[in-house]
Amino acid sequence: MKVLVVGSGGREHAMCWKVAQSPLVSELYAAPGNPGMAELAECVPWDGDVGQLAEWADREGIELTLVGPEAPLVEGIADAFLARGLKIFGPTQQAAMIEGSKAFAKGLMERLGIPTARHKTFSDVLDALSYLETVGAPIVVKDSGLAAGKGVTVATSLQQAKQAVANILSGAEQAEVVIEEFLSGPEVTVLAVTDGITIRPLLPSQDHKRLQDGDTGPMTGGMGAICPYPLASGLMTEILERVLKPLVDGLRAEGIVYKGVIYAGLMLTDEGPKVLEFNARFGDPECQAMLPLLETDLLELALAVVEDRLHEVKLEWHPWASACVVMAAPGYPDDPHKGLPLSLPLQPPEQVLYFQAGTRRGPQGLLTNGGRVLSVVGLGEDLKKALERAYTGVAAVKFEHALYRRDIGRKVVTNVG
Ligand code: AMP
Ligand code: GLY
Repeated sequence: MKVLVVGSGGREHAMCWKVAQSPLVSELYAAPGNPGMAELAECVPWDGDVGQLAEWADREGIELTLVGPEAPLVEGIADAFLARGLKIFGPTQQAAMIEGSKAFAKGLMERLGIPTARHKTFSDVLDALSYLETVGAPIVVKDSGLAAGKGVTVATSLQQAKQAVANILSGAEQAEVVIEEFLSGPEVTVLAVTDGITIRPLLPSQDHKRLQDGDTGPMTGGMGAICPYPLASGLMTEILERVLKPLVDGLRAEGIVYKGVIYAGLMLTDEGPKVLEFNARFGDPECQAMLPLLETDLLELALAVVEDRLHEVKLEWHPWASACVVMAAPGYPDDPHKGLPLSLPLQPPEQVLYFQAGTRRGPQGLLTNGGRVLSVVGLGEDLKKALERAYTGVAAVKFEHALYRRDIGRKVVTNVG
């Protein structure tokens, strides 16, 4: 089978790595891919035009496409492929609105009774500012549209909240801002695959969104992840019953059949789990930590989703734990330094995987080419061992001035190293 993976980040490198292990694959392509993916797949240049990629895939006889990032989903890549009768693992443009518009997602959660922070949506600056006066801080201000995980301000002062509102609403013409109640508790990511009827939750994981240790510094796309996150007993069932099922069933009742991955970002509050956000794809870096533990063939899973027979698939998991540490370029997230040299060991340390993201190949080896550069994944019998291996993997990389967190997983495992 000819298979295409869309994207160029650490998540997509992990997807390629997993897909490449499937006996069903005969040829693997990546668009646009990265140097790590190029070791597993043939990389096809791609500028982001979804119609053009669908045309290429049609011509090339691609039999299944898996989409990594949100941007092409929100642009309608699934619709463009489906219109040509091509199989694609990822939701349609309408379904991807659960991520593409936070205002849409909040409205949906309200209609369906899915637990989430109380909120209001504004497009007018003055209305938003006067609302802020009535609610005060701490308060959370979100850009309704896609912002690569960086459109959220958890404001500790009214001044900061007002600034965030002004920044968002003075930007794009059609900008909307969601202002929501501040929640506290541990955060967990629950990913699930669905064909629009059957839902199969994947192992829960935990991301680390802030740049620096101790959850300080600016928001990023994610600086590391652990998997599985040890959820209290019964919580996964509660999340399935109160969040995932109402979402998939509710969308279907509104005429939207959701097929692909659902990402539920949850806060485990004293009042129970509440949804912070939905995404329409695997998390990055959660995917890099989770996929190495999946024993089921990812291609078989994706095909079952596309062919409406997910009920036939039972997921199998490796009993180990996994930890991912992201190495980013200095200057990330605002202004990552491009063109810095880095090199990976010829032989990775035991039970360590390297997934590349913002890299490119220069005349003498790898160079940085984006913010998040590498995902270093360690696998082990338990989370402590997995973390030790991940950090051994980090130490084996030559990458001067790399930014990475030293405390991934520390909230769950206190005595690492
Ligand atoms: P989001 O992109 O909506 O998941 O927000 C990014 C991050 O902002 C989350 O992972 C949380 O750390 C934080 N956050 C979002 N919403 C809230 C909230 N209502 N209360 C507290 N923190 C939040
Ligand atoms: N790691 C957060 C995200 O993928 O949205």
